[in-house]
Amino acid sequence: MLASYSTTIWYTIRATGIVALVLLTGTLVLGILTAGRAKSRSWPAFAQADLHKRVSLLAMVFLALHVLTAVIDTYVNVGWASVLVPFASPYRPFWTGLGTVAVDLMLAVAISSALRQRIAARVWRGIHWLAYASWPVAMAHSLGMGTDASRLWMDAVAASCALAVGGALAWRIGDHKKSKELALGVGAITRAVPVRPEAPSSAVLSANGSTRSLRRSTSATGLLERDRP
Ligand code: HEM
Repeated sequence: MLASYSTTIWYTIRATGIVALVLLTGTLVLGILTAGRAKSRSWPAFAQADLHKRVSLLAMVFLALHVLTAVIDTYVNVGWASVLVPFASPYRPFWTGLGTVAVDLMLAVAISSALRQRIAARVWRGIHWLAYASWPVAMAHSLGMGTDASRLWMDAVAASCALAVGGALAWRIGDHKKSKELALGVGAITRAVPVRPEAPSSAVLSANGSTRSLRRSTSATGLLERDRP
């Protein structure tokens, strides 16, 4: 009876750990897509942001179960302190410690998001960047600790997670570059057009290179004086 209870706990630690890793990966990928404004008609930005939030909450639930079962398991002695204090676990302190670091980073991200309305956007964004750090640390913990890490299926899960994050990051960097080039192009075009008729006041380069001010026309046509025949 005692053995089967212990086995159930052990399986629960492993299962919840793997599900938490997959959900954490999903959260990160959705976060990258949302931040990059990836949207389509069938998947608008608000739906993406909502899914990102829900998946992150689900990840926290599985993570809480994982940590709780790890602490109450009598075979592995990790102790309550190791839930929040990195490298405090008597059982495999380094690899457990990485799990704790990932949890601490995720908590910082989660708490700052809950307080988002009350803190400066720059501070929130800075803390949110910690999500990028928590993922590889959680992955290292999963592979370093895992009973299943040597199994082919676990390698496939880890590789799929890495591919998903790598793919999302590559898309984000490519998209960022494209937007920057587009902005530079638009900037160059707007700089090349000296004045727009609706501009309140402006100056243009005359043929001899000097600038002259233009007053807005008060005529009904709304044409600038320069435009008048
Ligand atoms: C983001 C944070 C975390 C994630 C994603 C995570 C995920 C995982 C995964 C995937 C495994 C491997 C399961 C297996 O294949 O056997 C694992 C193992 C383990 N984790 Fe975590 N973990 C995290 C945090 C923690 C923390 C904070 C603790 C301790 C308080 C902890 C304790 C353990 C233990 C004891 C095992 C070994 C289970 C075994 O005996 O195989 N984890 N974790």
